[in-house]
Amino acid sequence: MADFYENWLAQSERIELEVPEAPRVAHGKSLEWVQTRQDAKAALMIAPETGFTTGGSLLMKAEIPVGWHTGLHAHGEEAIYVEQGDGFLVLDGQRYEFHARTVLHVPYRSKHQLVNTGSTPVVYLSGLAWPLEVGVNLGHMEQIEEAGANADGAYDSVPAEESQYWPEDGRRIAMHEHQYELSNETKHGATYFLMGRNGNKNGFKATAAAISSIFVELPHSKSHSHAHPEAYLYALQGRGYSKIGDKEYTWEQGDAVHVPPGMMHHQHFNPSDGETRELRFEFGVRYWFTEQWKGYRTIDKDLKHSPLHDDE
Ligand SMILES: [Fe+2]
Ligand SMILES: [Fe+2]
Repeated sequence: MADFYENWLAQSERIELEVPEAPRVAHGKSLEWVQTRQDAKAALMIAPETGFTTGGSLLMKAEIPVGWHTGLHAHGEEAIYVEQGDGFLVLDGQRYEFHARTVLHVPYRSKHQLVNTGSTPVVYLSGLAWPLEVGVNLGHMEQIEEAGANADGAYDSVPAEESQYWPEDGRRIAMHEHQYELSNETKHGATYFLMGRNGNKNGFKATAAAISSIFVELPHSKSHSHAHPEAYLYALQGRGYSKIGDKEYTWEQGDAVHVPPGMMHHQHFNPSDGETRELRFEFGVRYWFTEQWKGYRTIDKDLKHSPLHDDE
């Protein structure tokens, strides 16, 4: 029988073989929707359960019917992007309004739920580090209420929004589209800066899960070419392809692209006549690894975004 050390070697080998061959694109058109206690309709996009070799992270898409709310629950940090709809987040007994394209950050183990007050379903994306939390035996998920229809006056006792900032430590919880900050340092056609990590930029204090930015790629252009630990890109607009390692992956609006853990070289391409927009998720554990990764650096072949074919 193999000893524990033989098993460790086998695990290392399995990772070396699996990561390069794992799926890289979760296609929005072929999601498996289910009803859960938390969401009337939810589907995992990038997740261990859907075959992706994640770094302890996941991306879920969910829908809240008109006149409904999600369950009320608590777990680790969560980064949310509202793709469609209007309503409010109830977080620790306080309201934070959202509209289409609002980003919301839920602090570690805060009680929260989303309430749809609009006339269309709310569609949202959620980034979590749940598999990592489970892996280190800190996965704590508490279901306080189930998803369901809003009862008359159920939220009257939750005061209207007073601020987008959390009373506990002043960090930011919500940011609307008109508040996005256009970065003047970009390796893309344009970059909007969303959630920061330390409270210095935009007021967000995202440690485990963040929606860091939106990249805009101009028609017939490509991003810089580089390598770093795990990140996700969700296509908000347009279609294109990404080179990750030595393979190419095409994607379109509603798809999510997985740049896997490790240091796989990658680059994003927009061969179309329209702009592409990509929402970027990142997970804090990557910084924990880059701090100890000897010789770590972002390798840049092309330092800036450039035309699709440099020789054109
Ligand atoms: Fe949640
Ligand atoms: Fe990247």
